[in-house]
Amino acid sequence: MNIVVGITGGIAAYKAVGVVRAFVLAGHTVQVVATEAALRFVGRPTLEAISRNPVHTSLFDGVAEVRHVMIGQRADLIVVAPATANSLAKLAAGLADDLLGNTILASTAPVVVAPAMHTEMWQNPATRANLDTLRARGITVVGPASGQLTGADSGPGRMSEPDDIVAAALRAITPQDLAGRRILVTAGGTREPLDPVRYIGNRSSGRQGVAIAEAAVARGATVTLIAANLDILAPDTLEVVSVGTALELQAAVTAAAETADTVIMAAAVADYRPEAIVDAKIKKEQQGDTLSLTLVQNPDILRGVVENRRDGQVVIGFAAETEPDRDALLALGRAKVARKGSDYLVVNRVGWTEGFGTETNAIIILDSTGVIVSEAEGSKASVADRILDLLA
Ligand code: CTP
Repeated sequence: MNIVVGITGGIAAYKAVGVVRAFVLAGHTVQVVATEAALRFVGRPTLEAISRNPVHTSLFDGVAEVRHVMIGQRADLIVVAPATANSLAKLAAGLADDLLGNTILASTAPVVVAPAMHTEMWQNPATRANLDTLRARGITVVGPASGQLTGADSGPGRMSEPDDIVAAALRAITPQDLAGRRILVTAGGTREPLDPVRYIGNRSSGRQGVAIAEAAVARGATVTLIAANLDILAPDTLEVVSVGTALELQAAVTAAAETADTVIMAAAVADYRPEAIVDAKIKKEQQGDTLSLTLVQNPDILRGVVENRRDGQVVIGFAAETEPDRDALLALGRAKVARKGSDYLVVNRVGWTEGFGTETNAIIILDSTGVIVSEAEGSKASVADRILDLLA
């Protein structure tokens, strides 16, 4: 997404660097439009390095490309952080005496403002009236928070924290079509210990499950992520329960499924575990040239969820298959959904270079009767949204 971050001249401008950084790290293209006053509080080189783009300030730069309207026309979202009392007044009046004013007036993108000012200015009837005007126009206002201000005083007026501004801004442009839903997502791959230092595992990174959990939160759902040995860090915005083995995953899923109205089993569960876990490291000298292990089958967690399904609970399973032929893959998927009894089965091909551990995925979604209801290919985030569309 093309995001314009407008920075106006208040001391909280130093925190705007965190807003820019969070958008960039989330994969968005950020254009910073800073007022002259903002650049007295935070340096242009900092903003250019963090945004990875030139910082725009003057109405008279880039005139040949009509930059004063182009930036706004190209924006998918405009976030003004901090928004001073003065900049809110200008925005309410529709003034265009600087590049930021022009950018906002020339844009049809959603606008989010994060006010920052002293408590007296925040409570002044003029500021209140300006905010009423902005809200009536559909502008999203984030914060301000209450707390320590620049001086010794404290009260409402402190700019919200960068992560809160970013989350609210992304929410403002994401339909909240899963609001009120409680979704349980499992991710990653279980590891079954052999001895204190070794395990049998699989190559699932957890990326797809985490992407589903993140997308569900962005669409308004309350999400519990049960994470088994993720290769990536789950974002702070998720409530995470960490597990190691299939039996631990089963216990966590059984508990969390009681309050979930949707269960999405994206985790790769080990089908077998060593019959016995030895207390000390297995030694070569004692084993000789070969080592035989006896494995016992793990419970089928998905089947258990289906068997204990609450009224109206939607259960979505995954099928990781190495079958290259599409028809044969679908036949495996149809047999699996019939065996598991889930409402949907997300079939994805996995292999040495596919599915597991990659940034992208290709899926076919079957309903409980084996009919294809959706297909998607692309980033794990976009695939996550197609899966969640089933619920919306
Ligand atoms: N699953 C589960 N418990 C298991 C094994 C798998 O809950 N013991 C779930 C997975 O989370 C996934 C679905 O069942 O949602 C299918 O997993 P998959 O590994 O594709 O199938 P299996 O049932 O293990 O069958 P097979 O490995 O023989 O294809």
